[in-house]
Amino acid sequence: MDRIKITGGERLNGSIAISGAKNAALPLMIASLLSDETLTLRNVPRLADVAMLTRILGNHGVDMSVDGKRAGANGDDGDTLHLTARTIVDTTAPYDLVSRMRASFWVLGPLLARCRETKVSLPGGCAIGTRPVDLHLMGFEKLGANIQLEDGYVLASAPDGLTGAHIVFPKVSVGATHNVMMAATLAKGETILENAAREPEVADVAACLVKMGADIEGIGTSTLRIRGVERLHGACHKVLPDRIETGTYAMAVAMTGGEVELVGARADLLDSLFPIMAQAGVEMTATNQGIKVARNGARLQPVTTETEPYPGFPTDLQAQLMALMTMADGDSEITETIFENRFMHVQELARLGADVTLDGDRATVHGVDSLKGAQVMATDLRASVSLVIAGLVAEGDTIINRVYHLDRGFERIEKKLGACGARIERLTG
Ligand code: EPZ
Repeated sequence: MDRIKITGGERLNGSIAISGAKNAALPLMIASLLSDETLTLRNVPRLADVAMLTRILGNHGVDMSVDGKRAGANGDDGDTLHLTARTIVDTTAPYDLVSRMRASFWVLGPLLARCRETKVSLPGGCAIGTRPVDLHLMGFEKLGANIQLEDGYVLASAPDGLTGAHIVFPKVSVGATHNVMMAATLAKGETILENAAREPEVADVAACLVKMGADIEGIGTSTLRIRGVERLHGACHKVLPDRIETGTYAMAVAMTGGEVELVGARADLLDSLFPIMAQAGVEMTATNQGIKVARNGARLQPVTTETEPYPGFPTDLQAQLMALMTMADGDSEITETIFENRFMHVQELARLGADVTLDGDRATVHGVDSLKGAQVMATDLRASVSLVIAGLVAEGDTIINRVYHLDRGFERIEKKLGACGARIERLTG
């Protein structure tokens, strides 16, 4: 199994190309199930999760091809995928695939809408919390589907098709919004989704669905009005840049000091991060090409924040912010309101010398003067990358085990950081 070795102490300088967003690319790929024509997606990141979803969609009958690289093309450009679900050959999403990637549960909406029946495994346990799917199922029932739970599977059917409905989500859910929105595009009549997730990745998927012929109003707001259409057609869509990858590299630069331009990043997707970084003493400036991040000399200052649905501070940056604050001059408070168990990185950061106290959903990070390299491992993607951030300043060598978590969501992380001066290498085998 691959590991990452980091020898801390180098400042980061230069530029890093930001990839397409994983959390948009996955539902966009799933949206291909809604049409028998080809959906072309550009700027798709090369990630283990994308490869896994390719397998899952292939199982349903989606044909996929990837454009070869043009001569002279920049290695930073993402892949162009062509996905064609001409015929759905299997409406079952089995446990052994869904359990490997939760987002594959989102095939339920498109399969139900297009084929009128589907059988999708419940996703099962997860390292960051219980993560139920009740909101998804409530949405489908409101659209007129019959939902049964049997042997760990959701059996969903709507023999006469889905019918538009007024659905108020009691809690903001990114996945339930994606899933129910996709299904509603092919329902009869109008669907209103209230308290829908406003995450930019949801808006990106909605924009792609509109290109495919869907009728959606209110994109980017918490109320989506979807008028169902008979069929969707092919389209071409470019995946938006990854705001979580952007925020992660911003914190890496903040941690080491130096100056890096995050090329292709969109400042407007990270409004919640700018004030926190300013408070911490880190300069973040929007440029023509992306975002410039700089910290020169002065010690990091502590911050207080809590995670919230977009446009609040993202849970997917909580672990990275915590890693950063381990080196601040004082105590920071970080409250996790989205997932009940997303503090798995605390124990691992402690192995590097971090001092964090947990009290329910609140972490108090007592800044220390230095971290020291050690062997660490993490159980989820963002937790793993928080260890990379800490490792970049820890004295000596940090070895991060279970790199496959990183490969799920960060494209060529060792190359991107290495090109800016980090001493980081992948140990294979
Ligand atoms: C998406 O997960 C992201 N995944 C997660 O990113 C992200 O952390 C999360 O949204 C929150 O922003 C993808 O986009 C692929 P939710 P999702 O439904 O959709 C509760 C990463 O590291 N809930 O918005 O699964 C749930 O338990 C990943 O890239 C219910 O109670 O998250 C949680 O507390 C990890 N019932 C809250 O809502 C439901 O039916 C938000 O979850 C659904 C969710």
